[in-house]
Amino acid sequence: MSSPSIRFELASKFGSEYGPEEEQAAIEVIQNQAPTSGNACVAFEREFAAYCGTQYARVVSNGTAALFLSLVAIDVKPGDRVLTTPLTWIATAAAAATLGAEVDFVDIDPDTYNLDPAKLAKKVCAQTKAVIPVHLYGQCCDMDAILALADARGFAVVEDACHAVGAEYKGRKAGSMGATGCFSFHEQKNMSTLGEGGMVVTSDPDIFERVALYRSHCARVYGESTKYCRLDEAKTPMGKRFWWQDFDDAGYNFRMTDIQAAVGRIQLAKLDALNARRVECAKYITEGLRGVPGLKLPVTAPGGTHVFHLYPVEIDPDVYGMTKEDFIYAMLHERGIKIGTHYNPLNWTEAFRKRGFERGQFPVAEAAAERLVTLPIHPRLTREGLDYLIESIKTLAH
Ligand SMILES: Cc1ncc(COP(=O)(O)O)c(C=O)c1O
Repeated sequence: MSSPSIRFELASKFGSEYGPEEEQAAIEVIQNQAPTSGNACVAFEREFAAYCGTQYARVVSNGTAALFLSLVAIDVKPGDRVLTTPLTWIATAAAAATLGAEVDFVDIDPDTYNLDPAKLAKKVCAQTKAVIPVHLYGQCCDMDAILALADARGFAVVEDACHAVGAEYKGRKAGSMGATGCFSFHEQKNMSTLGEGGMVVTSDPDIFERVALYRSHCARVYGESTKYCRLDEAKTPMGKRFWWQDFDDAGYNFRMTDIQAAVGRIQLAKLDALNARRVECAKYITEGLRGVPGLKLPVTAPGGTHVFHLYPVEIDPDVYGMTKEDFIYAMLHERGIKIGTHYNPLNWTEAFRKRGFERGQFPVAEAAAERLVTLPIHPRLTREGLDYLIESIKTLAH
């Protein structure tokens, strides 16, 4: 039987970890009146852009906002088509659907679970404005093929890198390859900004300007203050240096607070170490489970690194001896371990059934989803916890 502390670490499935440095950073912002969009946000953006190798970064309130603003910035509107994978969190597709675009899905590669570029090529049409590749579970999509197709067919690539902060594809960082890259700092992600948060990165100045404007009400402040102004020089349209605010369009408030950004800066500095710990845990699990009949373990595609936001396993019920649902139930009730399911294909959901989708349209994603579970993985896992996880999975196998 496991100790209560092991059960606890295996019952909290995902996420990052905070230490005294984050606490200190948060206290310092509180002592400075805890502003929104202040110096900590500016520093976090500068450091995050440098980490990703992009020209610009803008902090936002969450990953959904990052996706939504990216699509706004490339002018996605009703009548446009946006393609993505059915095996993702609903936010990816909802960002396009809430802008009135027509969303369609592209089936996946059965080993990496990422969108299959060969199938993408067949779905692109004249109305395809954007494609959102999702770097699922922590490894990048086949970006060379997707970017070549984007060049040839004239659509924008908005990378959903919410699972893959710090992952690399042929030496380039996740999020740095498309028109924009979108990140989430939700509590379950590899780095977090106190439960919610996000970032858009880009190297295109026009896209950056639109992201920055629409994030904060499309406000331009002319004159002395440049706080909400676009990053080029503040202009004084009437030639006078007084404070005058205008709004280019109706925009949104998707800003981040300084207390979150201060914590984000510390998390970013630790990110490579946090990811390395995940990779170490993933290797240990893979070695421990290799050879267990009926399990398909994660595959890392050549040319990229995997940061194991999640650790996916497919369970073949005929060989392992139980369905994924029974496995999830038994792991929780017999072993105290919480197992996840990421995700139900979006064509199974009410949100997309009412947009004309039905079961059976994406057979590879759907067959995988019938068997996919995600094991606990996070940097707080101990050797004892990992051994207990592996032993539990072996014990339940028939
Ligand atoms: C693949 C993917 N895209 C987008 C999002 C949306 O991020 P957020 O929850 O920060 O809005 C998530 C969050 O879980 C995600 O996993």
